[in-house]
Amino acid sequence: MQIFVTGGAGFIGSNFIHHTLALHRNTTIVNYDKLTYAGNLENVATLANHPNYRFIRGDICDGARVFEAMRGCDVVVHFAAESHVDRSIYEPGPVIDTNITGTFTLLKVARELQVKRFVQVSTDEVYGDLPQGVCSTEEFPLAPSSPYAASKAAADMLVRSFVRTYRFPALITRASNNYGPYQFPEKFLPLIISNALADKPLPVYGDGKQQRDWLHVEDHCRGILAVIERGRVGETYNLGGGSVEMNISMVRRVLRLLGKTEDLISYVADRPGHDRRYALDCTKAREELEWAPTIGLEEGLQSTVTWYERNSAWLERVRGGEYREYYERYYVHRDASIRGLATATPRTVT
Ligand code: NAD
Ligand code: TYD
Repeated sequence: MQIFVTGGAGFIGSNFIHHTLALHRNTTIVNYDKLTYAGNLENVATLANHPNYRFIRGDICDGARVFEAMRGCDVVVHFAAESHVDRSIYEPGPVIDTNITGTFTLLKVARELQVKRFVQVSTDEVYGDLPQGVCSTEEFPLAPSSPYAASKAAADMLVRSFVRTYRFPALITRASNNYGPYQFPEKFLPLIISNALADKPLPVYGDGKQQRDWLHVEDHCRGILAVIERGRVGETYNLGGGSVEMNISMVRRVLRLLGKTEDLISYVADRPGHDRRYALDCTKAREELEWAPTIGLEEGLQSTVTWYERNSAWLERVRGGEYREYYERYYVHRDASIRGLATATPRTVT
């Protein structure tokens, strides 16, 4: 099997490539990535000389380049995205371009090249806010709240239209919040872990009682492989961690694991349009794919915290450069809020 992976220099994509090459000796992977601020070849550096691995730098919106790179592949696993909700709020343009136009470009090329399977890696955020006690099945209506979630929902709808109109062999996965090694520290857990390690304030949006369903990235990778091998074309599969927790509880868990005090917790201005609760019903994946998460939250968090402790040099490098510029542009309001200036607003982006 020859897999065309998009976004394989990012968090989940790089974990997926490591996971797949370690398990499947006859699989070849082409990693196609634009290397945005979130893409880091260091995440896949140990594979540079692997005989079954090739990296090609490119944008998924560039149809001609995608065509050349995808030629000869039978499966596409599409991770590439602008993946951060906060960033999508303050600068939605690139999110729309990559997540919608980029997905459309990939679908067109993959159809032309007659790939056998196309996996659209989507998110539970497309279902929007859920009331307490409710878990979304794949049949739930899409009700995205942020530009990021809306762009993923739009991409899912394009995939669906290709399946229905062109009998294109695509499948969709919708995973819950991932955590694990190589996650860019703008996302909640690596941000909390890295700030706690440095004794910096831990920014908790609003009251911190929002709930997310935490999935270890290794379990997500296993789920995607199960979808490639056993999923039915045209179907959508929820892949949730089954560990729904309030954000503030996750912060307390991290503090306990690191032996730090709660003085570091800093409640800051809430994210606009912030969804209160996500939770997935994964009965379909369990019954059809025989997939279920295997890494419990305590075990997964412990190994993740240890990974960030041991990889402080990686953290330092990714927090420099473009990230610092981004941080200064968008997070001024959050830092101001940490200092108690509650009325601070994001600086205008020019
Ligand atoms: P990430 O931000 O860590 O990585 C995204 C990768 O895509 C980067 O390597 C980046 O360079 C690349 N990329 C961005 N724009 C590109 C473009 N135009 N052309 C080519 N490459 C481009 O993201 P992630 O957290 O690894 O998420 C991967 C996928 O999984 C996304 O589609 C996301 O929506 C989905 N997802 C993520 C989570 C999560 O908790 N992180 C949960 C569910 C679903
Ligand atoms: P995030 O990692 O951005 O993922 P998503 O918004 O896609 O779920 O955020 C996870 C949760 O943590 C979400 O409820 C927002 C919250 N959060 C904070 O409280 N503080 C922060 O600094 C960040 C980045 C997120």
